[in-house]
Amino acid sequence: MTAEYWDGRYADIGEANVSWFQATPENSLLLITRVAEPTAAVVDVGGGASRLVDQLLARGFHDVTVVDLSQQALGEARARVGDAPVHWVVTDIRDWQPDRTFDVWHDRAAFHFLVDQADQQRYWALVREAVPVGGHVIVATFAEDGPDMCSGLPVHRYSAEGLAASMGEGFTVLETLREDHVTPSGGTQSFIWVLARRSI
Ligand SMILES: C[S@@+](CC[C@H](N)C(=O)[O-])C[C@H]1O[C@@H](n2cnc3c(N)ncnc32)[C@H](O)[C@@H]1O
Repeated sequence: MTAEYWDGRYADIGEANVSWFQATPENSLLLITRVAEPTAAVVDVGGGASRLVDQLLARGFHDVTVVDLSQQALGEARARVGDAPVHWVVTDIRDWQPDRTFDVWHDRAAFHFLVDQADQQRYWALVREAVPVGGHVIVATFAEDGPDMCSGLPVHRYSAEGLAASMGEGFTVLETLREDHVTPSGGTQSFIWVLARRSI
């Protein structure tokens, strides 16, 4: 999994044709606006070229950070939203050392690429550093009956309970959702979503 690989996926396929494309990220918006006002600091981890940032800006959110290892993907999102005051961070999430905290951590279909248990544990340690007690975490992955590969790479599939267990102690699950995502080519991918509050 390299930046060049992901840059190539976005450049070759086009952001509106990648399998994970959503014209409107409905569940993300539903869950974020359930727990956060527009004054909240939101980070979209592995956000790529997602239109979530556009939609958050349109709702008045003004402290939005998008993190991704693909410069190509972030460049496409940035070209859409222009001069909007978004923090763009090009990094592998496994190397990221944020110098601030966030009220909401959102990740749709990035965490599931961490198939190595040590990477998964480091990810949740990073969430604990970046999201103080009282903050919220929204993570979506392929469900147990979802595909075992995404974009040509293996993924770890989760049940809602399995994803909550992966978080470790200190998170209270507030809501779980299932979603059948329809890809641009008409296929269906089963996702699960977990919204949790950092409680200790
Ligand atoms: C399936 S796409 C989902 C993109 C976006 N969240 C969405 O819903 O449209 C996965 C994204 O995670 C990014 N990604 C994969 N592994 C990553 C890593 N280790 N660190 C940072 N970003 C990563 C990819 O570049 C890609 O943009």
